[in-house]
Amino acid sequence: MSLAPQELEKSASKYASDAIKCDSQGARGMAITNYQKAIDILVRIMRLYPSSKLNPIYKERTLSYHNRIKALQQTHGVEPAIDPKASPEEQKTNLKKQQGENDFEDLILKEKPNVSWVEVVGLDDAKNALRESIVYPTKRADLFPLGWPKGILLYGPPGCGKTILAAATASEIDGYFINVDAASMMSKWLGEAEKNVAKLFAMARTYTEKEGKPVILFIDEVDSLLGTRNNEVGGEIRTKNQFLSEMDGIEGKGKNLKLYVFGATNKPWSLDWPFLRRFQKRIYVSLPTQLAREKLFDLYTTPLKKDIRLKSTELAKLFDGYSASDIRDICQAAQLKKVHELFNSDNYKEPVEGDQSLQPTNLTMVDFRAIMTRRKPSVSAEMIHAYHKWNEEFKAL
Ligand SMILES: Nc1ncnc2c1ncn2[C@@H]1O[C@H](COP(=O)(O)OP(=O)(O)OP(=O)(O)O)[C@@H](O)[C@H]1O
Ligand SMILES: [Mg+2]
Repeated sequence: MSLAPQELEKSASKYASDAIKCDSQGARGMAITNYQKAIDILVRIMRLYPSSKLNPIYKERTLSYHNRIKALQQTHGVEPAIDPKASPEEQKTNLKKQQGENDFEDLILKEKPNVSWVEVVGLDDAKNALRESIVYPTKRADLFPLGWPKGILLYGPPGCGKTILAAATASEIDGYFINVDAASMMSKWLGEAEKNVAKLFAMARTYTEKEGKPVILFIDEVDSLLGTRNNEVGGEIRTKNQFLSEMDGIEGKGKNLKLYVFGATNKPWSLDWPFLRRFQKRIYVSLPTQLAREKLFDLYTTPLKKDIRLKSTELAKLFDGYSASDIRDICQAAQLKKVHELFNSDNYKEPVEGDQSLQPTNLTMVDFRAIMTRRKPSVSAEMIHAYHKWNEEFKAL
């Protein structure tokens, strides 16, 4: 999974030297991309090894790459953005405005989500909590004179449905879903994250106020925005404070706004109290239960050809401890195995176009057992234990 720090550092240096090479040859776009990749990796190293003595050096490097990116963007501009009729002064301001917005929009995905509540398998407690705190107030604000929770933290192991749960909630209330990734926000917006956090909330607020629609602002990997204090890369503390005050803003003056902030994290323990406190609902998105795994197997094997003796109950038992996205991958791998067998069987003939007569054999338990020997669950028992412990202490449903 994670690379050793030396490996990471090596690859950061490689990107940096490629960047410098492109830069000296005038290949501006490639230079920017490579500087950015180098920054991303250095930020990752600092985050993974917060007490490393080398961090001040890495920090300095990230800042200098960042400055170079800015300089490259400002001196050259994005060609098609220039309006030839505008005065040189106007051109300059237009350019700046557009660049700011491009950077900003890059990281933000505003969409009308098309995943529905019923597509999220299991997670009944989580769904109920969301129904109470989001769906009801959106439909009947009059019943909530004391306001309602605006900050929701979804935590738990990877691949269990944090993202789709948030998206499904947005679609349930017919709202916008603004999806931002805090980790890239911190690295791409280096030094400007604070300003951009303000912009992000202002944007979300405009949608609710002008269009009257509820908005879910989904901040993935929120721990990288609000985590460790001892590792100030590009103004993390200021960004964090900005975030906290924005959260207070939607609680106080903006009490009746239909604006919700969802934070998602795999590392809830790295969030500290001032932050946790502002997420009044803290919801554990856990590994699927036996029943949920059965449903997931039903869901993902429906389009596949399977032996009638293959039972989801058995599959669910076999894959205890696996996440929802593991199960999706397992079903995909099982089908791949069948197709591989088909292509490599003795009676395989190149089909003429459109001929689908040759089909793989039906999926059986044997196939799934074979897959299991090759795939471990993506979440360890130790991690699950840590989530349970944290959940017992901090959950708020
Ligand atoms: N509860 C679920 N019901 C149905 N499908 C699910 C569920 N959980 C996960 N999946 C499948 O796994 C994919 C990944 O899920 P999702 O992105 O929501 O996980 P996550 O908890 O946000 O993971 P991460 O922490 O890695 O961001 C989904 O697109 C979906 O296909
Ligand atoms: Mg996710």
